[in-house]
Amino acid sequence: MQGSVVLLAGEPGIGKSTMLMQICEKLGEGAKVLYSSGEESKWQLKYRAKRLGVSSPNLFVLTETNIEKILSECTRIAPDYLIIDSIQTIFDDRLNSAPGSVSQVRETALQLINCAQGQGISVILVGHVNKEGGIAGPKVLEHMVDAVLYFEGERQNAFRIIRAVKNRYGSTNEIGVFEMTDKGLIEVPNPSALLLSGRPKGVSGNCAVCIMEGSRPLIAEIQALSVPTVFPSPRRTSNGIDYNRACLNLAVLERRLGLRFSSNDVYLNVVGGLRVDEPGSDLALALALISCLKDRPIGETVIAFGELGLSGECRPVSFADQRIKEAARLGFTTVLLPKGNCEKGMLSKIDGVKIIPVRSIFDALQIFSQEQER
Ligand SMILES: Nc1ncnc2c1ncn2[C@@H]1O[C@H](COP(=O)(O)OP(=O)(O)OP(=O)(O)O)[C@@H](O)[C@H]1O
Ligand SMILES: [Mg+2]
Repeated sequence: MQGSVVLLAGEPGIGKSTMLMQICEKLGEGAKVLYSSGEESKWQLKYRAKRLGVSSPNLFVLTETNIEKILSECTRIAPDYLIIDSIQTIFDDRLNSAPGSVSQVRETALQLINCAQGQGISVILVGHVNKEGGIAGPKVLEHMVDAVLYFEGERQNAFRIIRAVKNRYGSTNEIGVFEMTDKGLIEVPNPSALLLSGRPKGVSGNCAVCIMEGSRPLIAEIQALSVPTVFPSPRRTSNGIDYNRACLNLAVLERRLGLRFSSNDVYLNVVGGLRVDEPGSDLALALALISCLKDRPIGETVIAFGELGLSGECRPVSFADQRIKEAARLGFTTVLLPKGNCEKGMLSKIDGVKIIPVRSIFDALQIFSQEQER
């Protein structure tokens, strides 16, 4: 959107500058782009541009941190797009505080927003995140800009996701899935297949789940490992799953099914560096935990989704049909899902896929035992 300001936030080294440099090539096809970096030298930028194959004649590069100089250069060059990498390095020398401080970030962002709106330039700001994972600087920054995008993923892992948390001119229900390579970020057209590649076979404690990322179904694998604790209070380590959700599910399993997790350490992981926040992952998480505790593997072609309530009931989730279709596409043949999603006419029939309705966690345990006996 012309004159809009987008904030792209992410952890250090996740690939923000890489993505923006790649975007410059595309934007430069029909418009002028000014890339202002306060973090890297011209040579470093040039080296990266070369590596990524970015050579647009419409791309102008500036290495500057003084907001006044950036704005005057911007007026001189009159670009269609201005990229600021990053807002935390920019300062206004009329303020006494250091770059990155709350007042500096607020003041310089305001000047850039005025510039965007006044001159019709579309601005992309890079934002650092703090230790808690929020955008560093004032919270008000998120209110000031038109869109806020988060870059997620683990640095050790090639998988990257861009998620919109605010968008004044479009949907926030979409994500972009990319892989980091030496040629930069490339789109992953089939993320579920990538997430499932290299799945261990016949090992207990694993269960596949289908979650919704916006309007897109994604299949991931939840892994659970539980070992007797040697600590006074047992450890719970969760990678990719919300810690509180994990604790809630452990409490439900302990109280409703009498499974003794309170004397065990529990480690949870989502393969591929994906973050699973959706309540629809509860059932698969519970099954992975049960499978681990009983040391009995869940079949490779079994997938589960559904939300668990505190009484152990399995609540319906949205987009059940789309989830089943994605599971079928990737070769899953048994789908455990909430009974509430299986009412007559709600699901379309797919050949070769067995649907198992689950009313509660008790049902799930029973189904699990039956499947094992077979
Ligand atoms: N030659 C390469 N081959 C593959 N991946 C590379 C290569 N060079 C850099 N990378 C990847 O790019 C990442 C750095 O990307 P980038 O500099 O865009 O991150 P950033 O988010 O801008 O970080 P910062 O916040 O520190 O500026 C590295 O962590 C690495 O994963
Ligand atoms: Mg950078």
